[in-house]
Amino acid sequence: MSEPRASRRSLQVALGERSYPIHIGTGLLGDPAWLAPYLAGRQVMVVTNETVAPHYLARLKQGLPGDAEVRELVLPDGEATKTLASVGRIWDALLEAGFNRRCTLIALGGGVIGDMVGFAAACYQRGVAFIQVPTTLLSQVDSSVGGKTGVNHPLGKNMIGAFWQPRAVLIDTDTLQTLPAKELSAGLAEVIKYGLIRDAEFLAWLESEMAALRALEPQALAWAIERSCQLKAEVVAADETEQGVRALLNLGHTFGHAIEAHQGYGKWLHGEAVGTGMLMAAELSQRLGWLSRADVERTAAIIAAAGLPLTAPADMGVEDFLARMRLDKKNVDARLRLVLLEALGRAVIHDETPPPLLEALLVAFPRR
Ligand code: NAD
Ligand code: GLY
Repeated sequence: MSEPRASRRSLQVALGERSYPIHIGTGLLGDPAWLAPYLAGRQVMVVTNETVAPHYLARLKQGLPGDAEVRELVLPDGEATKTLASVGRIWDALLEAGFNRRCTLIALGGGVIGDMVGFAAACYQRGVAFIQVPTTLLSQVDSSVGGKTGVNHPLGKNMIGAFWQPRAVLIDTDTLQTLPAKELSAGLAEVIKYGLIRDAEFLAWLESEMAALRALEPQALAWAIERSCQLKAEVVAADETEQGVRALLNLGHTFGHAIEAHQGYGKWLHGEAVGTGMLMAAELSQRLGWLSRADVERTAAIIAAAGLPLTAPADMGVEDFLARMRLDKKNVDARLRLVLLEALGRAVIHDETPPPLLEALLVAFPRR
C-alpha cells in the first residue's frame, strides 16, 4: 500500500452542491491561504476549549483575513460538556455579537467541539457555514468528516443532533504533537475500524506500522489519516444520512456507546470504548461462525497494539449492556441492529443475532 509523498494532500467529500474538501498537511494552521476560501463573509466565530486554546487559538487567528470580524468562545473541556447547554452558550455568543446568516463558525478542537459547533451552526438562523479544524486523531480521521453533529442526552449518546456538512475540513497534523498518548490511542481505534470494515490491505498495513503511528512518525501518520478520510468520504458520499452502508462506520459503537453511557460520559474515552466494542463485535461474529478464532485474535492484537483496552468494565452486567443497546439509533422497531464482521475487512449490518448468542457473549466477555 503506497503512502503519500507530498506534505499537503487534498480529498473531496462528494455530496453534489454540498461537496467539500479535506486538506491534510503540516504547517497549515495560521496559513492565510488555508481558511479564507471557506469563509461565508466577514463575521467569524472561533469556538474551542480551555485545553486547545492555549496551544492553537492564536495561531489559527493569524490565518484569518485582516478585515474579518472575529469573536472567540472558549468552552470547558470534556465529553460531559457536550450538552445542549453548551450549544446554547454558542448561540448566546453569536446573538450577542449580532452575527447574521453570512457568519462562519470554526470548530477548533476534538470531536466534542466539532460535534457541538456543527450542531450550533445547523440551527443558528436555520443554518450557517462552519469549518472543521480537528486537533485530535479521532476527529481528524472520523468526526470532522461527514456532517454528523449533535450533543449527548443523559439517556443516550449523541441522541440530539442534525446532519450538517462543513464547508471544509482542515487537518494540520502538527497539532497531534501535543495530544496525550491515551487520546492518540483512542483515535487509532477509529483508524483500525476502517481497516476492519472495508480495507483488509489497510488493516495489514496498520499491523505493521502501529509502532510508527504511536511514535507519531509523520509519513505513517499522514497515510493513516488520508486513507481513513478516503474511506469515510466514500461511505458518506454513498449514504449521507445513514439509510444503509454508513451504519457500518458504527462497528463496535453499539457496545461502546453502552459502556460510555453506563460509566458516565468522559470516564472511558469514546475511542477506548469503541476499541473494546470492536473486539466484542468480532467475538460475536465468531460465535455466528463468520470469523475464525485466528481472526478474533488478530483483532485483539491490533487493538492491544494501539494501546486500547480488551476488557469491559467490571461493574457492567448483561442487562446493563442490553438496556443501553436497545436505545441505539440503528435499531428499527424492537430489533437490535449490530455491525458485525463477515471477514476481516468486510462488515455487515445484522438484525438477526439470536438473543441467547448475544447474551452468552455478554456473559463470557472478560471484565476488569
Ligand atoms: P475530545 O474532543 O474530548 O478531545 C479529547 C481531548 O483532547 C480533550 O481533552 C481535548 O481538549 C484534547 N485535545 C484536543 N486536541 C488537542 C491537542 N491537539 N493537543 C492536546 N490536547 C488536545 O474527544 P475526541 O476523541 O476528539 O472526540 C470524541 C467525540 O467525538 C465524542 O463525543 C464522539 O461522540 C464524537 N464523535 C463524533 C463522530 C461524528 O461523526 N460526528 C464520530 C466519532 C466520534
Ligand atoms: N462515526 C460514524 C459516522 O460518521 O457515521
